[in-house]
Amino acid sequence: MAAPTKICSVFRNGLFNGKVAIVTGGGTGIGKAITQELLYLGCNVMVASRNEERLRKATDEMKKNITSPAELDHMQCNIRKEEQVQNLISKTLKRFGKLDFLINNGGGQFPARAETFSLKGWNAVIETNLTGTFLCCREAYNQWMNDNGGVIVNIIADMWKGIPMMSHTGAARAAVDNLTKSLALEWAESGVRINSVAPGSSIYSETAAANYGDPKIFAYNIPKIPLKRLGTVEEISTSVCFLLSPASAYITGETIKVDGGGSLYSTMMYNIPDHKKSKAYTWKDDEETKSKL
Ligand code: ADE
Repeated sequence: MAAPTKICSVFRNGLFNGKVAIVTGGGTGIGKAITQELLYLGCNVMVASRNEERLRKATDEMKKNITSPAELDHMQCNIRKEEQVQNLISKTLKRFGKLDFLINNGGGQFPARAETFSLKGWNAVIETNLTGTFLCCREAYNQWMNDNGGVIVNIIADMWKGIPMMSHTGAARAAVDNLTKSLALEWAESGVRINSVAPGSSIYSETAAANYGDPKIFAYNIPKIPLKRLGTVEEISTSVCFLLSPASAYITGETIKVDGGGSLYSTMMYNIPDHKKSKAYTWKDDEETKSKL
């Protein structure tokens, strides 16, 4: 078996010594990479997720790899539930005494055509990705950041051209992009910066590969990416750490796309079947219509 990869960072040792962060969805994929880099840089982390069993296992594993004085704790929290989010923030404040960073990474969706969504399915995705992010931001602000400042990073998605078969999450993530801008303006006076990171769908993680069920699905992306390779979870984590750090002290309300240039080129894996349902409009058609009135 290959030796486990040593966690490290492009940032200097101790950059976040004594800081405190909450990472939602921090036990898997991108969230786990963010948690591990923060711990490496000395930041105490509370990871939160809905699935307690999986979160505890991930936390136990991550604890073994901590090389800084930082501490890691975990809390079961369904970000759709207002009371659970209030509890996550208050328990973190009790455990670590403050809250410097909030990373809203928890999210979820299922692939389907929009016309087939039940209202329950639609609401579940909007509540997790949009409302859950809002609740975490609001509680972090009301319980700590209004008085003490802080930095928030929202993880969104490559939804710039729509996400066919995932329209619910596309709508929710676009809303978080806009929420980021509004909150940056409203909360600037409290010393809060808030930005987003938008990973491309070409970011490879074992969690994402397992969700897709077909790891090869990632390889289909490569021709459509200007950098001609998949992205790594570390490449998301490093952008998050940049936005949390003083290196971005003059950046707020911004979204960084981490997608190898894919959103500028073509990311569509969705093929629209040939059809003849679109009728052209010309002035001639208009005259004909008027003459019939
Ligand atoms: N990850 C996916 N869904 C979640 C939820 N509802 N709460 C917290 N983390 C999640």
